[in-house]
Amino acid sequence: WLGLLTCLCAGYLLGSIPTGYLVARARGVDLRRYGSGNIGATNAFRVLGRGPGLVVLVVDVLKGYLACTVACAAVAAVMDRWGAGGFDPGAARVLAGFGAVLGHTYTCWLGFRGGKGIATSAGVFLALAPLALAVALVGWVLMLVWFRYVSLASVTAAVLLPAAVWLTERSGLLAWVTTALGLIAIARHHQNLRRLWQGTEPRVEWGKRA
Ligand code: G3P
Repeated sequence: WLGLLTCLCAGYLLGSIPTGYLVARARGVDLRRYGSGNIGATNAFRVLGRGPGLVVLVVDVLKGYLACTVACAAVAAVMDRWGAGGFDPGAARVLAGFGAVLGHTYTCWLGFRGGKGIATSAGVFLALAPLALAVALVGWVLMLVWFRYVSLASVTAAVLLPAAVWLTERSGLLAWVTTALGLIAIARHHQNLRRLWQGTEPRVEWGKRA
């Protein structure tokens, strides 16, 4: 259990790097005070433009992917060296991914208020369940193209991803973790959902800053 707990913590630390906040800060902007106030890639695109938005998106996806691959392998190597290895590598990868999304969403560097976890989850599931990710991604793109609300697309993906994991994966742990992450992502979109209900959620303006 020590190895699994270490993977969870390593994932959390990697995920907790507040990319959007740091990229905006480098430009003298506190992203939490503009747009939706979220530090994720969507708000970085909205407030800072395409270049910085893309940097935030790529790094946030990488945080999730690297947590499940490199961070987990590094923990396993260190534990082996200490003679404390032998933990279930599949479970370790799932817990590292879970930690990464929790780290992004509840980052200890910003008073446990972070992003909504969508990009980091994409990186995690690219490593853990690419088929389920593809299903969620298709849903995300279709919803975005049809309705032009990123938040609605993200909430749709947060429902589709656990459903796809339950249908395609054999790991019970992965299915339960994905379900928990889906629920957290939906809860983190509560303000977006309220704005969608009230008709005040901003739509994506293709080619323009929102
Ligand atoms: O991934 C976050 C997105 O679904 C919503 O972002 O900035 O519009 O709240 P935002």
